[in-house]
Amino acid sequence: MSDTVTITDNRTGKQLECPVIQGTYGQPVIDTKLLHKELGMFTLDPGFSTTSSCRSAITYLDGEKGVLMHRGYPIEQLAENSNYLEVCYLLIHGELPSQVQMDEWENAIKMHTMTHEHLSRFYTGYRYDAHPMSIMAGVVSAVASYYHDATDIRNPEHRLMTAKRVIGKMPNLASKCYRFASGLPFVYPHNSLGFVENFMHMTFSRPSEDYEPLPAAIRALELLFILHADHEQNASTSTVRLAGSAESNPFACIAAGIATLWGKAHGGANEAVIQMLEEIGDASKIQKFIDRAKDKNDPFRLMGFGHRVYKNHDPRATIIRQACHELLKELDVNLPMFEVAMELERIALEDDYFIERKLYPNVDFYSGLIYQALKIPSAMFTVMFALARSAGWMAQWMELMEDEDFRIGRPRQLYIGPAKRDYVDISQRS
Ligand code: SDX
Repeated sequence: MSDTVTITDNRTGKQLECPVIQGTYGQPVIDTKLLHKELGMFTLDPGFSTTSSCRSAITYLDGEKGVLMHRGYPIEQLAENSNYLEVCYLLIHGELPSQVQMDEWENAIKMHTMTHEHLSRFYTGYRYDAHPMSIMAGVVSAVASYYHDATDIRNPEHRLMTAKRVIGKMPNLASKCYRFASGLPFVYPHNSLGFVENFMHMTFSRPSEDYEPLPAAIRALELLFILHADHEQNASTSTVRLAGSAESNPFACIAAGIATLWGKAHGGANEAVIQMLEEIGDASKIQKFIDRAKDKNDPFRLMGFGHRVYKNHDPRATIIRQACHELLKELDVNLPMFEVAMELERIALEDDYFIERKLYPNVDFYSGLIYQALKIPSAMFTVMFALARSAGWMAQWMELMEDEDFRIGRPRQLYIGPAKRDYVDISQRS
């Protein structure tokens, strides 16, 4: 029995034997690259639900079993034992670092936490109430202008240097969004601090007093950064890869990823969840929103529910839910919204509509509640997501640039427009 699938064009009887390729895990894939050449046809797969865009060794998801692994390590073990910078190393280098490698990596990232002083001027060009994701997409793209001539994307050393710059600078760029919106002076990074602590120092410290972030808050953010670091070929990662396939500047590719992540169907959902929970207000109104989510005539969807891949629990949501519970207890914070969220989850998961469609809470359903407990404004939630995901975007971009099948991404289409017709002078038109 050969590892092939035969596609027969029943209109002509022509056949094409396509190789079936099995990866380490997951569904086998059909290599259809000769489909157009041999049978003169394209495939049509809106939303790419059944299309593999690349070979990748970085992250594996099993939607049916609710499995997420980075370079073979289960997310539950990384969440329990690792830290964000170590996960960044793992995503980019493919292996967990030795102590020497980790020390070198941490020092290298620290060398890139500063941004050019002129970059700070970009923030003041935005409206006082600009959405921080709009600012992030702009300033990250602007960083490209400081390295454009010095980055040879075909040079592996330059690619690794770019990854260190992105990981090192994203917390600084993100913190400036919060400071700009809050009317606070920008704060320089301090390299004596750890990665998360430095971000909190740049974001929350005040020139007028000492600032000491709570250990529980540092741990909660570290966990959220780990859980958001990478997630296979999601929409924003696919955007970064497509931009990278055109050999665009890597910072511009990341900026494109940020623009994609902003959408509420994607990373913007964490902010939309809080807005939805605020609109629900209390548990007595939950059913009304559930009914709206089920109503095909109502565009409203239950934010934080559903996932293209996970048709079982999103393992990240399970971890975040527990962490949220523990944080609220440790901070002795009463967050009524958390109770509403848990009641909403309970009701939805008992409703046939959600059960039949395998709609479970995803990573965005609870993450916003942790940010709320840490007094991070909801407009900053997706910026936090982008900060964490920048490591995954860089790892995926580097893998793309090293791919032996590297070529510009250029999908085709099914044309359904008008047939050929001749131009009519405007004087002859009705
Ligand atoms: C992220 O891809 C990734 O990995 C993304 C991510 C990452 O880490 O990068 O995990 C991060 O983006 C998580 C998702 C965050 N988005 C939301 O929480 C927004 C709400 N969710 C939906 O918009 C939706 O579930 C999506 C966008 C997440 C998934 O969309 P799909 O796969 O296109 O789902 P679908 O439209 O095919 O839905 C199947 C059915 C439909 O109903 P029917 O036509 O079969 O009757 O489920 C319904 C949908 O209407 N449905 C929902 C729903 N999500 C799907 N109905 C109500 N509320 C919802 N949230």
